[in-house]
Amino acid sequence: MRHSWYGSAFYDVERLIRMDSQTASNSPTSLETQWDAQLYDSKHSFVSQFGTSLVELLSPKSGESILDLGCGTGHLSDKIAASGAEVISIDSASTMIEQASQHYPNLRFEVADARDLQFQEQFDAVFSNAVLHWIKEPEKVIASIQRALKPGGRFVAEFGGKGNVNAVIRAISNAMEAVGYPVDEAMNPWYFPSIGEYGTLLEQQGLELTFATLFERPTLLDDGDQGMQNWIKMFGNSFLQIIPADKQTEVLVNIENQLRPTLYQEGTWFADYKRIRVMAIKL
Ligand code: BEZ
Repeated sequence: MRHSWYGSAFYDVERLIRMDSQTASNSPTSLETQWDAQLYDSKHSFVSQFGTSLVELLSPKSGESILDLGCGTGHLSDKIAASGAEVISIDSASTMIEQASQHYPNLRFEVADARDLQFQEQFDAVFSNAVLHWIKEPEKVIASIQRALKPGGRFVAEFGGKGNVNAVIRAISNAMEAVGYPVDEAMNPWYFPSIGEYGTLLEQQGLELTFATLFERPTLLDDGDQGMQNWIKMFGNSFLQIIPADKQTEVLVNIENQLRPTLYQEGTWFADYKRIRVMAIKL
């Protein structure tokens, strides 16, 4: 299996990009969430690469009005706009919006909370790449999307799905338990639904599911030997923060030891990402 990853087209480096200071409150998608926009940008070509195929699924048309929900530094907004569509892009992180506005002064970017969007029947499509797994209140986001779409409008999204980073989460849990700090579900900052679960939520709010898939995308982590530790320090803070500082190295080494047989190869760490992709139409 490890070798097939190397031959896989599913290399994904949409990683180590989110500097999340909100995991302590288990509210990583609140407006106070901090992003390192430059770090995000330095990795963006890979994000765009996968996001580009999502833009193809969106298939934007000239003259359409499209919302990019969770736009980051705006590169995919720009790709969508290249079709001739009119794009409005939102993100909860002001750092991202500032950087996006500098890069693409002709596009419209706004800081907004996806759980409480103010748009009313304005868009032909809502697009979202690699952000919805950070929002643990999917019903509120779906309600926002439903309101924002015109009747007949489409919602096209990709994010972490059921089983995403399962091996990593299991290893964190084992390692924390071993030092006397068992993991509580409330520490988990992520929402990784199955396509059945998410499709049901969409349909409950008047969005007809027309496409859904869940697929593995093993994701190469930067920084060689340090890749897994760096990923956990950056994204797993809501777990690690309860461990006293003098036990953290022991926990991180334990996690690496558990994961090395399956997620490490020839000096490179991978994360066991699984993605969900959906398309739905507002009835
Ligand atoms: C993801 O893109 O699936 C992801 C990123 C950071 C933490 C967890 C999941």
